[in-house]
Amino acid sequence: MKPLLILMDSDPGRRDELLKALGHESFHMLGVGPETASSVESISPSAIVLSLLSGAELLELAVSWKSDPVFARIPIAAVVPAGDVPASDIAWAAGVDEVLPWPESPGLFAARVRNLERIVRLQREVAAFERLVVSLVTAFESREPDTFEHGERVARIAVAMGAELGLSRETSDRMRRGALLHDVGTLVLPDRLTQSEAPLDAAALDEIRIHPVAGYELLRGVPSLEPILAFVHRHHERLDGSGFPDGLSGPEIPFPIQVVSIADAYDSMTSSRAYRSVFSREKAMSTLRDEAARGLWDQALLGPLERALDRLAANVGALPRLP
Ligand SMILES: [Fe+2]
Ligand SMILES: [Fe+2]
Repeated sequence: MKPLLILMDSDPGRRDELLKALGHESFHMLGVGPETASSVESISPSAIVLSLLSGAELLELAVSWKSDPVFARIPIAAVVPAGDVPASDIAWAAGVDEVLPWPESPGLFAARVRNLERIVRLQREVAAFERLVVSLVTAFESREPDTFEHGERVARIAVAMGAELGLSRETSDRMRRGALLHDVGTLVLPDRLTQSEAPLDAAALDEIRIHPVAGYELLRGVPSLEPILAFVHRHHERLDGSGFPDGLSGPEIPFPIQVVSIADAYDSMTSSRAYRSVFSREKAMSTLRDEAARGLWDQALLGPLERALDRLAANVGALPRLP
C-alpha cells in the first residue's frame, strides 16, 4: 500500500497548487487545512508537508509533533517561500526533516520531494523491522501456552504502571517496546529448556540465565532498537544485587527498567508454568511484597503495580492485545 502524505495549508487554492507540484506516484496525497490537525494525529500519515506560505503558525504543529515521541517518527517537510533564508532556518530549527522552497524549479522541487520519500521509506523499513522482531518473539512465545503473549502482557502492565507513576509518554513508549522484546534472547535457547515439562535443574536454570545477554547481542547494532536494549539486558537485575547477568544494584538499574522487571516478575508468576504452579494475583503480590522487604524491589512500585492491575482488570477484563 502506498504511504499517505498529508499536505496542510490554510488556503485551498494553494493546497491544490502544491499538491500538483508534489504530484508523486509513490504517495497517496491529501490536502487539508490546519483545522484538521487533531484528525491528522489520529490518522498517523507516513509524511506531512506543512506549508508556511500562508503563515508560519503551522510551524507550531511541527514543534509539538516533533516533541511527541510517537508522532516524532513521522517525517515532516515545510514549504517556505523561495529565497527566504530566515524562514528556512526557523523551519529547520523546529525540527522538520526537509525544507521545500516554493516556487522552485520543477527539477529541484522534485528532488527535494524524493529526499522526503527516501526518509519515509527508511522510517517504514525501521518500523517494519521492529514489527518483524516483535512478531518473531510473539510467534516464539505462542508455541508455548505458558509464555503465550507474555511480552504483550508485560507491556500492558508496565504502561499502566507508567500512567500510575506519572511517567512521560516517551518513557512509557520505551517501556512498552522494551517489554515486548525483553525476552527476545530466549529465541536462542534450546527447546529442551523452553518446552520442559519437568522442573528445571540448576544447570538448566543457569543456561536459561544467558537469555538477557543473548538478547542484547541479537539486537545490538540496530540503531532504532538502541533505546530498548537495556530492558533486554537488565530485566533480571534486582535492586539488592542478587539478579543477573551482572548483579547490578540500586541506582545502577534505571527506574523504567525496574518497572518492566516487576511487571515481568508478576506476569511470570501468574502465567502457567509446567515446572511450577501458577500463582494467584494475591500470592504473586505477597511474594513481591516479601521480596521488596528483602530489598529486591523498590517498595514504591508495589502500589502502582496493584493499581495498574486493578485498572487493567476494570477496563479490559483479561489483558487484550496491543494495537
Ligand atoms: Fe527474561
Ligand atoms: Fe519475561
